[in-house]
Amino acid sequence: CGIVGYVGPRDSEGILIAGLARLEYRGYDSAGIAVIDGAGSVAMRKRAGKLSVLRDDLAAHALPGGTTGIGHTRWATHGGPTDANAHPHLADDDRLAVIHNGIIENFAELKVELVSEGYDFLSETDTEVAAVLLGREYRANGGDLVEAFRSTASRLDGAFTLLAMHEEHPGLVVGARRNSPLVIGLGEGENFLGSDVAAFVEHTRKALAIGQDEIVAITPAGVEVTDFDGAAVDVEPFEVLWDAAAADKGGWSSFMAKEVSEEPEAVANTIRGRVRDGQVVVPELDGMDALFADISRIIVIACGTAAYAGAVGKYALEQWTRIPVDVELAHEFRYRDPVIGPDTLVVSISQSGETMDTLMAVKYARERGARTLSICNTQGATIPRESDAIVYTHAGPEVAVASTKAFVAQITALYLLALHVARVRGTVSSAEGEQHVRELEAVPEKISQILDREQARIEEFAGWMADTRSVLFLGRHVGYPIALEGALKLKEISYIHAEGFAAGELKHGPIALIEPGQPVFVIVPSPRESALIHSKVVSNIQEIRARGARVIAIAEEGDAAVLPFADEVLRIPLAGPLMEPLLAVVPLHIFAMGLATAKGLDVDQPRNLAKSVTVE
Ligand code: G6P
Repeated sequence: CGIVGYVGPRDSEGILIAGLARLEYRGYDSAGIAVIDGAGSVAMRKRAGKLSVLRDDLAAHALPGGTTGIGHTRWATHGGPTDANAHPHLADDDRLAVIHNGIIENFAELKVELVSEGYDFLSETDTEVAAVLLGREYRANGGDLVEAFRSTASRLDGAFTLLAMHEEHPGLVVGARRNSPLVIGLGEGENFLGSDVAAFVEHTRKALAIGQDEIVAITPAGVEVTDFDGAAVDVEPFEVLWDAAAADKGGWSSFMAKEVSEEPEAVANTIRGRVRDGQVVVPELDGMDALFADISRIIVIACGTAAYAGAVGKYALEQWTRIPVDVELAHEFRYRDPVIGPDTLVVSISQSGETMDTLMAVKYARERGARTLSICNTQGATIPRESDAIVYTHAGPEVAVASTKAFVAQITALYLLALHVARVRGTVSSAEGEQHVRELEAVPEKISQILDREQARIEEFAGWMADTRSVLFLGRHVGYPIALEGALKLKEISYIHAEGFAAGELKHGPIALIEPGQPVFVIVPSPRESALIHSKVVSNIQEIRARGARVIAIAEEGDAAVLPFADEVLRIPLAGPLMEPLLAVVPLHIFAMGLATAKGLDVDQPRNLAKSVTVE
């Protein structure tokens, strides 16, 4: 969901709609705005469907102008995506407008209480319960909106960001935050609120992150942040590094196409500033040497694509640091009573830094005494704020729902972390360290070569496969998580059944799926670097080919062994063994995008998915 708030001298409608447009990537199925108009009343419009539906409605029936406003995009949880369930919700005789992100877990009992007091409800949402409660508290305390937020927030369980404005207080928007994101944008004579900085980056790059259980009141003159008990809170402003252009499509057909083209820079920018005299020195990890020397275990937690980046990172972390590493889905980790303690480093990976499953797992790990390190792409996001240490990936804003450039940046950050820790622990010599750094620094140029040489061909070939009903992906070693990522990307954006397997597992079951014509992508490791695994994978290719599979091999330039058995060979440049996943994934991203485009699908906003899943 996306949230925007504005107070200032300008008409708010355009600012709210533009802010919501920049938050579209978060995924949503309805949208709405409310403003306090010139006559001092709340005017509101909300519609199920895409933002364009709301825009058309506003164009057909203009809303009165107003310089204070709130806007929302909703991803349905409680109640379907209908006009009535869309936000804002009104209360206090339509004088109070409220928007909400998150889930209020005790809404049913609160609703019973409010219904028994005679309040009516127009929607099935948990949000309307919060709105009505806020209206009641506001009336009870004689019209203090901030105070009403305090008493309301203390009654709500669950995760929420709430924003509200009341017609008796034009020029004031109040927000509260628990577990759901909210950031302030500081302007000149105007101020903004947003679920993330994309909501207001075209107006200001000065921002403040609001912490857990805090309330913010913005007016054109300033902002005030307090905790739920009313005590003032100090907040440090930060400078947003992205500019508005970075979040624009810039001539590309889709954000995903733009973001795949940015994979080289995503890797290069993540390395930048973290190599000193040929060795990896991550400045953000300064002062943590004792911790890295002491830990005896690493657990990587993440969801979706980020979890596959973690699975690739495990190979490098274990090989270079000799610390045992487990990789686990965040939502599974938390519920199985894991064995963790002060000697455990829990590394979370999240592009958005807001994934609720990952956030909850990080908090759980902390409560259990583990040390936490966040690999994240979004400044000021919640997960890094809840962690002991942060290594940012510098992929730039990722807008398409399916993650691409953030994935290669996450692997890069994990490799940097591994080399940093290995240097501290002395498990990699400086000569070896330098060699790995050189290999990593060569990756961006190699990704560019794949994009230059293979993109058009892969897209064309993906077009021929538009009618395919099922695609399989095989890989071994670091190629295995890449097979999983290739399958996930295809599922996410082309809605085709796709599965990734460890190539060695083929004979234990999946080979039964092979029938004539079944397309199978095989990630082939380098014969120079990994001769043994290479020969095993070539045998696997023969096994499926013998059963009629249509084999698409992703293989190193010059690897002739695959030629007799492959229907297509997609070439990647020569690279060190642990660098191959950063290259092999690129054709798979292009393929998924090409196939979805050929099917006429919206690659940026696939059905049913959200970019940032802020519910558990
Ligand atoms: C959602 C997205 C995925 C993403 C996952 C983790 O499910 O649809 O593309 O990989 O969340 O997101 P994060 O922001 O935590 O990396």
